[in-house]
Amino acid sequence: MANVILDKTKRGWWKSAVFYELYPKSFQDSTGSGVGDLRGILSRLDYLETLGIDAIWLCPVCASPQVDNGYDISDFCAIDPLFGTMADMEELIAEGKKRGIGILMDLTLNHSSNQHRWFREARKSRDNPYHDYYVWRDGGADTPPNDMRAVFGGSAWEYVPEVGQWYFHQFAPEQPDLNWDNPALRQELYKVLRFWVRKGVAGFRLDVIDQIAKDPDRGITINGPRLDEFLREMSREALSGEGLVTVGEAWGADVQRARRYSAPDGSELSMVFQFEHIGLDQQPGREKWDLAPLSLPKLKECVRRWQQGLYGVGWNSLFFNNHDLPRIVSRWGSDGEYRVVSAKMLATMLYGLQGTPYIYQGEELGMTNIRLKLEQYQDLEIHNLYRERTAQGYDPRDVMESIWARGRDNARTPMQWTAGENAGFTTGTPWLPVNENYREINAEAALADPDSVFHYYRRLIALRKTMDVFRDGWFALLCPEDERVFAYTRETQEGHLLVVCNFTGEHAPFVCPEAFRNARALIANYPDTEQGILRPYEAKMLYYGA
Ligand code: GLC
Repeated sequence: MANVILDKTKRGWWKSAVFYELYPKSFQDSTGSGVGDLRGILSRLDYLETLGIDAIWLCPVCASPQVDNGYDISDFCAIDPLFGTMADMEELIAEGKKRGIGILMDLTLNHSSNQHRWFREARKSRDNPYHDYYVWRDGGADTPPNDMRAVFGGSAWEYVPEVGQWYFHQFAPEQPDLNWDNPALRQELYKVLRFWVRKGVAGFRLDVIDQIAKDPDRGITINGPRLDEFLREMSREALSGEGLVTVGEAWGADVQRARRYSAPDGSELSMVFQFEHIGLDQQPGREKWDLAPLSLPKLKECVRRWQQGLYGVGWNSLFFNNHDLPRIVSRWGSDGEYRVVSAKMLATMLYGLQGTPYIYQGEELGMTNIRLKLEQYQDLEIHNLYRERTAQGYDPRDVMESIWARGRDNARTPMQWTAGENAGFTTGTPWLPVNENYREINAEAALADPDSVFHYYRRLIALRKTMDVFRDGWFALLCPEDERVFAYTRETQEGHLLVVCNFTGEHAPFVCPEAFRNARALIANYPDTEQGILRPYEAKMLYYGA
């Protein structure tokens, strides 16, 4: 099946598109440094073209001390030498274009690195013109302005003796929050966006964008009072280019808010990442480390609410994985005997929905979680967690269980290209260990096997781009209470789609609705179909026309 190339100057092109999240550090190393780089990505563009994706969400490659793997940016308009040069970046944009693949820059407009020129100036004195680019509060050296906590642990305030003030940081102390209340700062950020638009990017992934309008005096981090105002201004000033696509990371979004963020008139963003579904297997009111089993009826209800809630009035992004989340096949599928079928099942469930799907690198191979020793982990969040929880008296074994299940490094292990040394990722020492299962799970093997997870994704992508029902169909949930089967329909005047997925490793009964009895199978993860009973992790899509 030939790739369908979408015209990216057309408004809303991304509604039929599939995006690919690429984590540069772990994708492909071209120098032997052990860290992936831009030339490595260039050498793998053909692979991405074969998969059929339309755009790459490129995790941060801007200049950075790499305290948080590039999410601490010290120059928004420069490429970090770790990854290459601006010329490499320009080549990537150009080579992508030739293949119909747009590039989305990932920018952290909520904060900068403490090594950013603005911050180095800001901390010099209270009258420095850059001082007000950040969020400062007075207070004695011993007492932070309030007891707000940072996402990565510890206080959200850091004292700077030179100015006798505390600055606010929602993440690491090396990631001071930018002060969006300052119009001059906002203009600087719009300049950054326009700089990348001129370079030819297809759009942006905007890091923790619902946290920009913070109001720490009232304890507000997400969904601050001026958020919609800021988003509208940013869109007007910097994002009005033909066909630009924006996806905002929004941990605090509910359906109501997401309707505004992703309003079809494009006044704010194209779409947001919301995380409600991904938080369903944690203990209510606790943190992601506090594990709980997934209730399928709850997942279905959540998906129904988002699918119906944004229909015609907003746009969903569809994902199970990203660089902050564990591998879905290990989480809600099975990474043992049923790895391949369960990876396909999860994709079937997601790819039947309305929205723009995001593949996270390696997901198309069914890559799995990893279990490392504490000292092998690189992520600052993991080490902070271990320190804090063991100090609070948690059993270290339980803390390690949480890390193995939820740690961000699960997703960040090097991409598995071949069965050769270091999975073909690097000729040097990989910055994070390669998962030992690379001899079995790798791109080379997947490309050669017509039944692989890779080829299944390729077919799903092609289906989405050629059939309108995926973009336009109304979502209706079937059997909401069923603990094992996730089934739904998507309907337009012309087309009727049924998606059926068994979320368990056991047989599960399912009665096919009458209307679909003679429908044709668009795709399925077992070679033949049986009536009345679904096999372990069985999934299929059935379709009939008007
Ligand atoms: C987002 C990123 C995450 C990063 C954080 C701070 O959640 O996805 O990787 O650590 O923001 O920038």
